[in-house]
Amino acid sequence: MKVVVHGITKEFVTAQGTTRAVGGVNLEVRDQEFFGIIGPTGCGKTTLLHIIAGLEKPDSGSVQFIGTQRGKSPVSMVFQESALMPWRNVEDNVPLGAEFRHEDQSLLKRVSRYFLDVVKLLDFAGAQPHELSGGMKQKVAIARALANDPEVILMDEPFASLDAQTRLLMREELLRIWERDKKTVVLVTHNIDEAVMLCDRIAVMSARPGLIKSIVTVDVPRPRTMKSMRDPDFASCMDKIWNLMKYDVEASMNRPQL
Ligand SMILES: Nc1ncnc2c1ncn2[C@@H]1O[C@H](COP(=O)(O)OP(=O)(O)OP(=O)(O)O)[C@@H](O)[C@H]1O
Ligand SMILES: [Mg+2]
Repeated sequence: MKVVVHGITKEFVTAQGTTRAVGGVNLEVRDQEFFGIIGPTGCGKTTLLHIIAGLEKPDSGSVQFIGTQRGKSPVSMVFQESALMPWRNVEDNVPLGAEFRHEDQSLLKRVSRYFLDVVKLLDFAGAQPHELSGGMKQKVAIARALANDPEVILMDEPFASLDAQTRLLMREELLRIWERDKKTVVLVTHNIDEAVMLCDRIAVMSARPGLIKSIVTVDVPRPRTMKSMRDPDFASCMDKIWNLMKYDVEASMNRPQL
């Protein structure tokens, strides 16, 4: 399914003043595309993703989902922290979306076990969230997003809390799942190599108020693995993105948050 973001703006008014978080964003994410959003801290990436997810209302502009199939929920979100329900075991954390749609218990169980198998966590179906590592919790969160059978998955820095090695493994894992399922994915990340490894195209945002500065197409062939990072096209794509971001990253480091 295609996502069309048109003219989104958003301001936050607080006791400290007004923050113009998103300054007029236009985007078109293609059907089955792995689309990245990268930009300096505080440039409005999370705000934009929340607006696409319908969790936040924009001041102006619109988000359209084109080609929605009836009965499917258009979006699922994977948050930076896995946001599992600590009182439920792994198996019961997975089918939340389906549960809201009042699907029957035996179906929920089957759906849950199927997606735990996809993320290779079936052996931990009965574990409690506190018994899992950070990477495993994020895998449960990804299984939950898939189990909801959305047409678009939105991910906000899904691997930010993980150590560097787990992060690399999770990228490969996510690529494997995406190659298999080909959902439309919108991924927010700070990490340039993560964006290049995963995405078809990457929107580079300017410092706040966030605007799309440029959209970079990643020409690294698929399927991609860790070895793809040695591809000369990988390095030149990283350079291109860093050159687009450098000035804004420096600017956002040198000014207060409001
Ligand atoms: N609920 C809120 N109330 C007030 N200000 C907010 C709120 N949410 C975000 N902001 C402000 O809007 C701006 C953009 O925030 P946002 O979280 O979207 O940035 P981001 O690009 O996701 O940053 P990071 O990369 O650090 O996660 C920031 O200046 C932030 O302080
Ligand atoms: Mg954020």
